[in-house]
Amino acid sequence: MATLWHGRFEGGPGEALQALNDSLPFDRRMYREDVAGSRAHVRMLARVGLMSDADAASVLHALDTTEAELADGSFDFQLSDEDIHTAVERRVTELAGDAGARLHTGRSRNDQVATDLRLWTLRELADLAGLVTAFQNTLAARADEVGEAHLPGYTHLQQAQPVLLAHHLLAHGWALARDVDRLLDARDRADVSPLGAGALAGSSLPLDPDGVAVDLGFAARFENSLDAVSDRDFVVEALFALALLGVHLSRIGEEIILWSTAEFGYVGLDDAFSTGSSMLPQKKNPDIAELARGKAGRLIGHLTGLLTTLKGLPLAYNKDLQEDKEPLFDACDTVRLTLLALDGMVSTLELRTDRMAEAADSPYSAAVDLAEFLVTSGTPFREAHAVVGALVRSALAGEGSLVDLVVADERLGPEAAALLVPGVAVRRRTTPGGAGPEPVAVQRKRFAEQLAAQQSRLGA
Ligand code: ARG
Repeated sequence: MATLWHGRFEGGPGEALQALNDSLPFDRRMYREDVAGSRAHVRMLARVGLMSDADAASVLHALDTTEAELADGSFDFQLSDEDIHTAVERRVTELAGDAGARLHTGRSRNDQVATDLRLWTLRELADLAGLVTAFQNTLAARADEVGEAHLPGYTHLQQAQPVLLAHHLLAHGWALARDVDRLLDARDRADVSPLGAGALAGSSLPLDPDGVAVDLGFAARFENSLDAVSDRDFVVEALFALALLGVHLSRIGEEIILWSTAEFGYVGLDDAFSTGSSMLPQKKNPDIAELARGKAGRLIGHLTGLLTTLKGLPLAYNKDLQEDKEPLFDACDTVRLTLLALDGMVSTLELRTDRMAEAADSPYSAAVDLAEFLVTSGTPFREAHAVVGALVRSALAGEGSLVDLVVADERLGPEAAALLVPGVAVRRRTTPGGAGPEPVAVQRKRFAEQLAAQQSRLGA
């Protein structure tokens, strides 16, 4: 079997080496990027006079054929195809003969693989950011649909204060807005061409790294050839952005799981986005939400895995770097599937706003409004807190309903008791960014503006 390095070797590779060494099974999905990088490289070789125009034309033609074969599945992979770069070059050489044998002039798989993976990452991150934006649109649409419905807001998972359901849904939307920013920031930093760095030191040939960077649509070219071939920061950043996005999806998942229990009963799951039990006929399970929660673990694992791989590596390229692709591909695939499924699940959730209101309208949820009532008539907050706390304790001890106790209290009275009427407390959250209808109306507008800004960044 002919390897790329057969000149220096007498024997061929052992089976175990090959099984461990080959990256073709996973890096073949970068074939478009590999062909694109080769096209730019060949055009550059012709421009600087290292390849004749006729040879360049025949290599470009062979690259077209190779790409078409890879796209339609007719490409005949050989045992010697260690990775996608080897496979493409081998086929181009079969098709273009001598001209094909000039393709790798001034290039190494080290700058080639970094180029391919950056191109792949650029496209994928933009794509995923688009899916996150679609999910945010779903959250915004559901928030509009439920108008001024309210539910208990929680701290420590204990009912704390009522909040608009729209406010709760948009809280997740804003976290996702930061995820989109992070994905696109990571994308911007990945947007640097490493092509022309060679194996590690550049070349004695008159290559034009600036030209290939422009040809491939990169925003810039590398500044340092050693850094160009050994830098995987862009993969780590992508994995971090995906892991944190995964954590946000997990938290949404966890709430759907809780809210769909008989105990909460805030949401009903659509048949298309829930599963049954093989034994218990009455069950309807939130598997998608549980998987959103479960997949976060694997995304975090990919991030810590790659950081660990990188931490001990001397400059420049080391084969350890081949370990960058599987976590990245898997993280992207995982996030894509999770986003699509969770989006569908949230789009079709039955939102039981009557159940939510019922849970939110316990007079205890408005206790802080009583304290704030006292504050407006001059009582220091600490004192007001103690007064209301004592009333709550009396009510819980069975000395009367909180409403009756408030009416009877001379510091509070009927005017304060009116604050405990269902639905009143949430309307009084009027401060900017707060949970009541007034600030939420402003927030809805700002969220729509945020989505528009994201959309234009995505379009750019
Ligand atoms: N398959 C390799 C990778 O993914 C390509 C680079 C190989 N370079 C080398 N010097 N062996 O990293």
